[in-house]
Amino acid sequence: MQELKDRILVDGEVIGSNILKVDSFLNHQLDPAFIMRMGEELARRFTDAGITRVLTVEASGIVVASAVGLTLGVPVVFAKKKKASTQNDVYRSQIYSFTRQESVDITVTKRYLRSDDTVLIIDDFLAHGEALKGLVDIVKQSGARLAGAGIVIEKRFQRGAERLRAEGMRIEALAAIEAMEPGNIRFA
Ligand code: G4P
Ligand code: NA
Ligand code: NA
Repeated sequence: MQELKDRILVDGEVIGSNILKVDSFLNHQLDPAFIMRMGEELARRFTDAGITRVLTVEASGIVVASAVGLTLGVPVVFAKKKKASTQNDVYRSQIYSFTRQESVDITVTKRYLRSDDTVLIIDDFLAHGEALKGLVDIVKQSGARLAGAGIVIEKRFQRGAERLRAEGMRIEALAAIEAMEPGNIRFA
């Protein structure tokens, strides 16, 4: 999506070798009209997939997921992050964050994901793919059909998307970064 690439080049800030800061429109301050256009574009790519539910994980995936759900006219569910709990009315998975170097439990209450759903997973970033793998695991537990994932920014050099695509998963990204360093971002 050209508008996103332009925006990343103007407003994005590369921190070290791995982190792209987009706090001015996506991760801290939000540009609602732009987020809506991104949600519409992700929804468009899955128009014919029969999506009945959008799934993301708190916190920063929620805003784009909401724009996608609004466009498709379906509910949006976000997995909650919490310390290990013993509830049994939830699907549960564990994700390891390379950025934060810690594991966290994610849970979705069973009644919000059903075996007759067709699910579209949405997230803001795809890096190593750990968050995505956790969400896929939860979809599998529910027995729902997984249509694929829509991502705002794929950091291709961290190879999460490559692994998941190799397993047959459909992943659509609005912008894919091949390589980056401070002052220089190269799109795929
Ligand atoms: P992975 O899920 O793809 O394996 O990535 P990783 O563990 O590295 O990411 C952990 C968190 O950092 C995720 O948010 C992810 O969205 C975010 N993240 C990953 N790479 C970048 C980046 O280059 N820039 C920014 N701004 N964020 C990045 P989270 O832990 O789920 O936290 P939340 O902020 O959504 O609450
Ligand atoms: Na984040
Ligand atoms: Na995220």
